[in-house]
Amino acid sequence: MQTSILCLTCVYWLVLYTAQVQCKLVKCDQTPPQATAEEPSENKGLFKLSVVRKDNDMQDVYLPDQTYVLILKTTNKTRPFRWFMITVEDPDVDNSINEYEQVPVDVGSLKTLADNPQSRYSEKCFNSVESADNFDKEYVEIHWVSPKNSPKEIVRLRATVAENQETWYTEDDLTILLKKDTRRPLDSAPHPPVENCELNSEARYEIVFKGLWSRLTHPRYYPSKPDENGYSHMVGASHGYDYTLWQLGTPASAGLKLLAEDANITIIERDIINNMSATGGTRTLIRGKRRHHPEMFEPSYALFRADSIHHMFSVVVAIKPSPDWFLGASRFELCTRYGWLKEYKMPLYPWDAGTMDGVSYESPKSVTNPTDNIDRVEIGSFNSESPFYQMNLNDLKPFAYLHLKSLSVDPIKGRNCNDEGQEAEVEQVQNEQESEPIEEPRILESKLGSEHCTFSDWYEWSPCFPDEGFCGFGTQIRTRSRLDNAYSKYSSYENAPEVSSSCRDHVLMQSQACYVSC
Ligand SMILES: *[C@@H]1O[C@H](CO)[C@@H](O)[C@H](O)[C@H]1NC(C)=O
Ligand SMILES: *[C@@H]1O[C@H](CO)[C@@H](O)[C@H](O)[C@H]1NC(C)=O
Ligand SMILES: *[C@@H]1O[C@H](CO)[C@@H](O)[C@H](O)[C@H]1NC(C)=O
Repeated sequence: MQTSILCLTCVYWLVLYTAQVQCKLVKCDQTPPQATAEEPSENKGLFKLSVVRKDNDMQDVYLPDQTYVLILKTTNKTRPFRWFMITVEDPDVDNSINEYEQVPVDVGSLKTLADNPQSRYSEKCFNSVESADNFDKEYVEIHWVSPKNSPKEIVRLRATVAENQETWYTEDDLTILLKKDTRRPLDSAPHPPVENCELNSEARYEIVFKGLWSRLTHPRYYPSKPDENGYSHMVGASHGYDYTLWQLGTPASAGLKLLAEDANITIIERDIINNMSATGGTRTLIRGKRRHHPEMFEPSYALFRADSIHHMFSVVVAIKPSPDWFLGASRFELCTRYGWLKEYKMPLYPWDAGTMDGVSYESPKSVTNPTDNIDRVEIGSFNSESPFYQMNLNDLKPFAYLHLKSLSVDPIKGRNCNDEGQEAEVEQVQNEQESEPIEEPRILESKLGSEHCTFSDWYEWSPCFPDEGFCGFGTQIRTRSRLDNAYSKYSSYENAPEVSSSCRDHVLMQSQACYVSC
């Protein structure tokens, strides 16, 4: 909302000079309206503007899209102030020779607190808050939501206070410069995506999703009927650079929408399977069990393989109940300069698929029209109905952890043309048996008999992927699910390791030759 106010003059100038994208941008004149003195007095540290920090926070930096608490106060209780103004601005306003030369920069927005009648938005300056009365004040609290994606490195917070008509102060301890913190977010991969992975091997990974969301960690508006709470299946894929399951700032696919809104993996899983290809797209379907109350803290496991073409992975897990929130990783790079990533534990925070409105877990849902892009669930929201009302991201506990571990690195298997129908991926089902990762007690209790071998019908054949180029002879695949996997730790049909011996011989994936006409 503030950004629209920010650009009012731009609109005005755009109407006048449609060809020139220029705005009237002048430094806010903070001189108090009632001042009889033209010049400010010397502050000498009497009045202070500060950003509330926690002990481990870095000074003088800000993280994008977060709520910061600003405190304006007097250091001497016998010297209160009556009037104040706080502005957030681009420090380059000082250097603008021509007041029309600059395009306004997103500097975030200042927010007055709903229960604090002492402050109001300034009518004189953009991005400014000022005193709403003339009473003595020792202390004022204002919130600043930092810019989401500003091209500028530095933002300035500047205040003026007036003790009375003759004496007012600015500068000194009333100005703060904050530098954008460019460190990567906690919930991102340790290595950036690489277009070409040069590793000459395959890696086998275990991925574990462990939920943490509870009334203890996230008390505000925690759902009243926890019986309904849970996570969807963990679903995703190892994939190539060309493939995107989901990404910040882009619209959710139909599959992600269905998953985020209804915890239904049907479409997203079908899309992943349809995009399986030796030359790009997806390789292994990642599928971990869904976890429900009262077993929400039970981990969900899956195994997958990565290679020099499919060297990334993405996963999603929907949160229930919620409007359209999910947890997950997007385009997580496994191929590093030092070889395959060995192990990584990553906290997860909720994302919003942008398809449903609703500020809290159990808010009444309504379809977002038009659809928004995928974004973080708003932390530090100013909607009091939100579970993250006026919360700083630093105070938000993770909703879950993803724990990724490389189990083995193998030389690339040669393609054996004589193995009819048995694709390389199927072999893994037997291979996985050798190195059994973490045991899950409940599996051991259950006795699997051969009568449990039940399968779904085969899914449709994938499109034909030419062996070379865009046409000619190629390969297509189809898969089916194990339906008796209620006892299986890994519910991904491609590589469920503790399948009983007779079940193991069943083929879960088939491939056949096909032809694409040129
Ligand atoms: C606070 O202000 C009063 C009144 O101006 C002054 O007498 C006193 O010395 C000040 N105290 C400090 C600690 O500066
Ligand atoms: C999941 O979605 C598919 C496709 O819309 C639908 O056919 C199926 O019935 C849904 N499953 C459940 C359990 O709702
Ligand atoms: C997956 O394959 C379909 C065609 O089967 C294609 O339309 C779609 O764009 C692919 N998805 C991604 C994310 O590449």
